[in-house]
Amino acid sequence: VTKLCVLISGNGSNLQAIIDAIALGRLEAEVVCVIANRPNAYGLERARNAGIPAVCLDHKNIADRQIYDEQLQQHIEQYAPDCVVLAGFMRILTEKFVHHFAGRLLNIHPSLLPKYKGLHTHQRAIDNGDEEHGVSVHFVTPELDGGPVIVQCRVPIFPGDTAEELASRVQEQERGIYPLVLQWFAKGRLTMQGNKAVLDNELLPVSGYA
Ligand code: GAR
Repeated sequence: VTKLCVLISGNGSNLQAIIDAIALGRLEAEVVCVIANRPNAYGLERARNAGIPAVCLDHKNIADRQIYDEQLQQHIEQYAPDCVVLAGFMRILTEKFVHHFAGRLLNIHPSLLPKYKGLHTHQRAIDNGDEEHGVSVHFVTPELDGGPVIVQCRVPIFPGDTAEELASRVQEQERGIYPLVLQWFAKGRLTMQGNKAVLDNELLPVSGYA
């Protein structure tokens, strides 16, 4: 069965969606470990509640980014996962780390990439007067939030929306798409070829309206 290692920094609602999809048989995979970079990440508790090994590798104890990522890589490799799943992992990864896991490193980003790479995506979409927003799942490459997009979901932005309201609308979509993409990966249907994401023989992304 396909082994997933999930990296988190906070709440872990995407992690929970993955755990739930596995329990429901919608995702034929196993979460072999969860790693957080913050000790108080609630997702660590979610993992332990599901009987999944969960550890914190606190970035505050390791100032050097190269060293942090080497230790992270070692932790991950103990579990020999098929796929490393960034699920709200709020750190930029070194090029060396990204190359090591190339083609088996996925991220979920709360914007319609290539728009709004980086932080505060919901507020930026509102401030820009956008009428729609959304979420992207993509393969990770060394360019921040710049790897090939696999799938996007769109949501409307309503007049007067706060960033929190918009975030929760986006997160509803996140819960559906990450397990779906991981099931494609688990079935061997999803690959990164050069700088493209490929599902079966189709170039991605595919888009859907919520
Ligand atoms: C999610 O909205 C995810 O898209 C975002 O962080 C949140 C994590 O929520 N990721 C990023 O901003 C990555 N740069 P969760 O911990 O409840 O899954």
